[in-house]
Amino acid sequence: MPRAQLARIVALAVLASGLATATAVAQPPVGIVRPDPDKAARMSPLQLGAQLFAGNCSTCHGGSGFGIAPAEGRRGVGDVAGAGPPLRGVGALAADFYLRTGYMPLGKPSEQPQRSRTLLHDNEIKALTAYVASLGKGPPIPSVHPAQGDLGRGRELFTEHCAGCHQVMAQGGVVTGARVPPLQNATPTQVAEAVRIGPYLMPSFSKHQISDAELQDIVRYVQWTKSPSDRGGWGISNLGPFPEGLVTWFIAAVVLVGTCVLIGKRVRS
Ligand code: HEC
Ligand code: HEC
Repeated sequence: MPRAQLARIVALAVLASGLATATAVAQPPVGIVRPDPDKAARMSPLQLGAQLFAGNCSTCHGGSGFGIAPAEGRRGVGDVAGAGPPLRGVGALAADFYLRTGYMPLGKPSEQPQRSRTLLHDNEIKALTAYVASLGKGPPIPSVHPAQGDLGRGRELFTEHCAGCHQVMAQGGVVTGARVPPLQNATPTQVAEAVRIGPYLMPSFSKHQISDAELQDIVRYVQWTKSPSDRGGWGISNLGPFPEGLVTWFIAAVVLVGTCVLIGKRVRS
């Protein structure tokens, strides 16, 4: 094949893949199935919640939130077999967290839930939350007052329980099998909810492990990481002790080598 022709084919392939990604990005996200607006207006929150659940959640979570094991999944949107945990007893707490973070509705049962812009309206989130809460006795949405928390204690508790995955400055990272999100987008309520739920691969923490008062301290610390005050020193965007130490070593190495060269010159001359 002549060079020029090959180059043209490569250029076309690059263009085509570029276009493909462009259209993929431009496509609207999978929509929410809603009842007719006139009918919805006449429904009680619980009725609306039940309707929204049937249309958007039951392919994975089952008819009345009994859950669906991966093997028995029904085919849903995009011919994906649905599967999801039972929701009876998870309470308003879990529903509020998973819906307000945009974690749910999930695209595919196997994928890690991710923070995204939610396509549900506020009244729909409240309706779905009320419906999920009505399925069984479960914890309510927690109320937290970060201003009453202790920052120093929060930092200690965060370092002990959370930093192993989320990093000291709550910037996130990766652990085996999961992306660990940064916590700067989480509201105080969502931090408190996540600690009690343990979404995806995160462990859940009971009140024996982390009391409500300690949780408030942790939330205060997470709030602080959103706009940490750099106390002195050189702000290298709070990368955490390891990279910060590395930077120190780079500077130290340059200074050390420089000193050796200088001394060497003096000795020789
Ligand atoms: C074993 C690792 C691990 C530990 C320990 C851990 N987390 Fe997580 N955390 C995760 C993972 C993974 C996710 C993402 C969950 C998902 O995608 O469904 C997450 C999600 C979160 C979220 C939701 C953030 C968002 O914006 O999506 C919050 C808030 C959170 N964690 C707070 C904490 C706090 C506070 C602690 C300590 C008490 C903690 N985590 C301990 C791994 C961990
Ligand atoms: C494609 C399948 C799928 C769809 C659709 C879906 N979910 Fe989920 N859902 C899951 C899976 C899988 C998990 C487990 C995720 C995890 O471990 O964090 C989950 C977890 C949850 C949880 C947390 C359960 C717990 O044990 O704490 C809640 C609450 C939830 N979903 C609510 C909903 C609601 C409400 C909808 C509809 C708006 C919905 N989901 C749609 C698959 C789905």
